[in-house]
Amino acid sequence: MIETQVDGFSTKGRTDYEINSERLSLYSQLFLYGDFMPLDFCIDPVKCNEELKFFNEAWKPYQPQKGDTGRVGLSLTSLDGSLSGYPELQSLYEYTQQTGHKVSENEFNQLTPVYEKVSAIRELVDYFKPYIGRSRFVRFRAGGHFPPHRDQSANYQIPDYFRLFVALGNTGANRLFFIYDNQVIPYEVGRVYLFNALKVHSVFSMRDDALTLAISLRLDQESVARAIKRLEVR
Ligand SMILES: [Fe+2]
Repeated sequence: MIETQVDGFSTKGRTDYEINSERLSLYSQLFLYGDFMPLDFCIDPVKCNEELKFFNEAWKPYQPQKGDTGRVGLSLTSLDGSLSGYPELQSLYEYTQQTGHKVSENEFNQLTPVYEKVSAIRELVDYFKPYIGRSRFVRFRAGGHFPPHRDQSANYQIPDYFRLFVALGNTGANRLFFIYDNQVIPYEVGRVYLFNALKVHSVFSMRDDALTLAISLRLDQESVARAIKRLEVR
């Protein structure tokens, strides 16, 4: 589905093998270190919740075409910097089917007003700013979930992005479960984690108003280097 012509990542005139090999090299540089790794960034969940109140009316159903899965989203980035939620909070596969336009995670790189208003995330976003792709807050009600899935590339075996995950308000042990590769993963509320989203993962909330942040970063030698520099244990 992806395949834009981004810096150093043109797919034009290249074989699938060449594209996958380049991506594999970069992806491996990250995940040789582990599958679910804390970075030395923390977001204050209380401050974040306070600052997000400005957007109380702006949350949109998250992938409503999949039925009620108890989630709403607030875009940190979008195609045009708007908070419409379309198409960034929809299934990109279905968006492509409807419009014929293939979009990449990396095209969703325009920061919305959420960036300006929510200073709690600024240090993190600024650090990775040139590489930020489709990114959003997700709020769950009790029973809200992401079913088991892998975050893949539609056209290639290795995606052109990688993922950060942060659990914020009303999360933590016995509140919000992050299940990764068949294991319930212990995590620190507010801590930013880098994880290999090609492995099966799911999220399930036991509480109302559980808040998470998911950030996509364009896979690139510099973004990989930046992430590795900020591993909590080096
Ligand atoms: Fe995912």
